[in-house]
Amino acid sequence: MKILVTGSEGFIGSHLVEKLISKKIHVKALVKYNFMNSWGWLEDVKKLNRKYLTVIAGDVNDYKFIEDISRDCSHIINLAALISIPYSYEARVSNFKTNLGGVLNLLEIIKSNPKKILIHTSTSEVYGSALYTPMDERHPLQAQSPYSASKIAADQACISYYNSFNSKIIILRPFNTYGPRQSTRAVIPNIINQIINKNKKIEIGSLFPKRDFTYVEDTVEAFICALNAKNIYGEQFNLGISKDFSVLETIKLISKIMNYELKIDEKKIRKRPIKSEVNKLLSNNKKALKILKWKPKYIGSNGFKKGLIKTIQWFEENKDKKFFKENYTK
Ligand SMILES: NC(=O)c1ccc[n+]([C@@H]2O[C@H](COP(=O)([O-])OP(=O)(O)OC[C@H]3O[C@@H](n4cnc5c(N)ncnc54)[C@H](O)[C@@H]3O)[C@@H](O)[C@H]2O)c1
Repeated sequence: MKILVTGSEGFIGSHLVEKLISKKIHVKALVKYNFMNSWGWLEDVKKLNRKYLTVIAGDVNDYKFIEDISRDCSHIINLAALISIPYSYEARVSNFKTNLGGVLNLLEIIKSNPKKILIHTSTSEVYGSALYTPMDERHPLQAQSPYSASKIAADQACISYYNSFNSKIIILRPFNTYGPRQSTRAVIPNIINQIINKNKKIEIGSLFPKRDFTYVEDTVEAFICALNAKNIYGEQFNLGISKDFSVLETIKLISKIMNYELKIDEKKIRKRPIKSEVNKLLSNNKKALKILKWKPKYIGSNGFKKGLIKTIQWFEENKDKKFFKENYTK
């Protein structure tokens, strides 16, 4: 088994690469080419067993390049994406180019090489605001942002290649993942870093939306389960822990753990446009538990607290990296 991992230097990707090479699985890690020759979060993985890791810089949008580097790989795990919803309002076309166009390249490659397997990463954002809860894999798809639309399109492209050409695709659909190395644009690291930076008030968008927060270790474990599972091609799996917390509840929990006297400043600029706001995401994860034999560990209120403590500790230990930018919007 040799796996091409795209988006390998990102938040989830770097944790997944670490896990794969710890299991002595050969990984070709695609990092997006940049002028600093940075390996992103894989810089932290450099010290690990390099015998199992090859890092290649490039772009998932470049078909010929991806075809070349994937030639000796049995699997492709696709995590490459532009994932920021606010950025998808601004840079709509590049959002679709990477999130859909990149996947089309990967699908063409596995169509020409029918033995290759593609594990594609979707997102709970494809469902939009819950029409019923908990949300299973049959929940309607609602494109409430260009990001969501691009991921719906990519998922459907995967399913169409399975139905039309028997392509070996598996779709994993994480609900909100959190943990060390996550971008400080995301709600949990954003709150933590505002407290670390001793902000007098926590500046935040909407407080009411509810999310099914999943610790990154659990998300990564589901990818390992999918690699080991047999005959699950064409299937989609929700990866959430089936418990939701509102943004306000999450702020309160983090403040309590960090001993922060809570003051909140709801900022209009941080809110999504009304029709674009996804009010509630809560997974039905039964399919992943049963078929993937996924056993998430950070479950319930205690699991969430445990995951938050680990995340806070990591951000505190790494605060000198100064990755938190106050002006995260335009
Ligand atoms: N973090 C979450 O809560 C969450 C939830 C659901 C789904 N997902 C999905 O998981 C995947 C990974 O997300 P993440 O949270 O680790 O985000 P991330 O931004 O940390 O990682 C995305 C990665 O994609 C890479 N990338 C972007 N454009 C590329 C291109 N043109 N060519 C090659 N690489 C490119 C980036 O460099 C980065 O390494 C994404 O597909 C995202 O949609 C994330």
